[in-house]
Amino acid sequence: MVERYVMSVDQGTMSTRCILFDHSGRLVSVAQREHQQYFPRPGWVEHDALEIWRNLQRIVPQALAGAGVDAEQIAAVGIANQRETTVLWDRRTGLPKGRAIVWQDTRTAPLLAELARTTGEDFFLDRCGVPLSTYFTAPRIRWLFDHVPGLHESAERGDVLFGTIESWLIWNLTGGPDGGLHITDVTNASRTMLMNIRSLDWDDDLLALFGVPRAMLPQIRPSAACYAKARSVLPGVRIGAALGDQQAALFGQTCFGPGEAKCTYGTGSFLVLNTGTDLIRSRHGLITTVGYKVGDEPAVYALEGPIAVTGSLVQWFRDQLGLITSAPEIETLARTVEDNGGCYIVPAFSGLFAPRWRSDARGVIVGLTSYITKGHLARAVLEATGWQTREVVDAMNADTHMPLAELKVDGGMTADNLLMQFLADVLDVPVVRPLVAETVSVGAAYAAGLTVGYWPDLEGLRRNWHRAAQWLPDMDPGARESAYGDWQRAVERALGWVRP
Ligand code: G3P
Repeated sequence: MVERYVMSVDQGTMSTRCILFDHSGRLVSVAQREHQQYFPRPGWVEHDALEIWRNLQRIVPQALAGAGVDAEQIAAVGIANQRETTVLWDRRTGLPKGRAIVWQDTRTAPLLAELARTTGEDFFLDRCGVPLSTYFTAPRIRWLFDHVPGLHESAERGDVLFGTIESWLIWNLTGGPDGGLHITDVTNASRTMLMNIRSLDWDDDLLALFGVPRAMLPQIRPSAACYAKARSVLPGVRIGAALGDQQAALFGQTCFGPGEAKCTYGTGSFLVLNTGTDLIRSRHGLITTVGYKVGDEPAVYALEGPIAVTGSLVQWFRDQLGLITSAPEIETLARTVEDNGGCYIVPAFSGLFAPRWRSDARGVIVGLTSYITKGHLARAVLEATGWQTREVVDAMNADTHMPLAELKVDGGMTADNLLMQFLADVLDVPVVRPLVAETVSVGAAYAAGLTVGYWPDLEGLRRNWHRAAQWLPDMDPGARESAYGDWQRAVERALGWVRP
């Protein structure tokens, strides 16, 4: 049987998507399913891990049927996933212990304040590459131990397992309670605050600080490696890769050389810069993370600027305010006015991530007058994404002393031409988008395909990258810097809103 395609699964914050790619990196078939978002209290965000697993079971056959093939014709499957989202489950029954706590959830803020006082931020930055923030995983495990009686003891006995979403899916794909493989990949592990960023192994001091027993942790594996053959959903198909979705996008954009960067515009936005095998410690509010690790080759590191709320601000504008009925309408609405009318929206719904890392920030709208229409608000929504990216790019330039020359972009929001032009204007560099905009999925497919020899090497993958669109800067420098100053004044008003 000829293996014609590679499959990717992109388990994202809003939905799960399964895509088949051919040798040229062309998208052949796609199936997708959204899952429910739970907001039980202000600042809390949860998912049902079982619903996500069931969605995967439904979309995989749909994607196969869309291409008219069966599992035997799939060379390998690669998994990309929303990162930092925390799942605990029972090893025997396979049932999750409550809902998964999502990366946007801020319930761990008090715990982090305590750790900042007792241990200090520098310890964490140095040991695991990330600052104390509600964004990362380990504080959520500790929160669950503190709130669910008996959970810690069960975890110590190895009866309760921990994983980020790829770990949960791989365990289920490979047998679940019946001998499922309990692993994670190094990119996902680098977001937990439990892995030592140099040794790439679980760190005993970090485990002790968060009270996390080793018995519940998955084994850390490379991002591209033949982990096992699936036993359910895709029986016999090799699982050849797993990466956090933003690292998968870095791979899919073929940013294989130091200095190459991409930004993915989804629910949040994530600017990731390949720094090669050198580990760079940021002095300007970025995080150090693992970009990818292919088989036995050394890990490639990256600097990342995560922005918590970009696309989800458009969703909020649509679903909570009802000012548009579909996300793409925001561009049409924004084009009804010339400019933002002096209005700025700082979407600090989950605090602010890079480069400020302020859990005490909350969203603000400033500059309101009776002149402001919903068109101005639509502009302010889009511009918030541009200005937040500018702050991250400034931090990256300051850390590397190598000004960014061009930004590769991808993700749903790149369909918005007004936003892409604004981005080029405020960054003052060309912004380019590839032909295959599904870079998270293509990256997971590339990594899995490399593992099984479907694609020969990284250079072969580079040849599949083609530019589809480009936006060039076209803004008066004085106007740009003055508007940036206004944005920064708006951000000042969002800081410190949550009382200590
Ligand atoms: O770190 C969170 C990120 O992985 C989520 O990405 O695209 O699923 O919102 P996305």
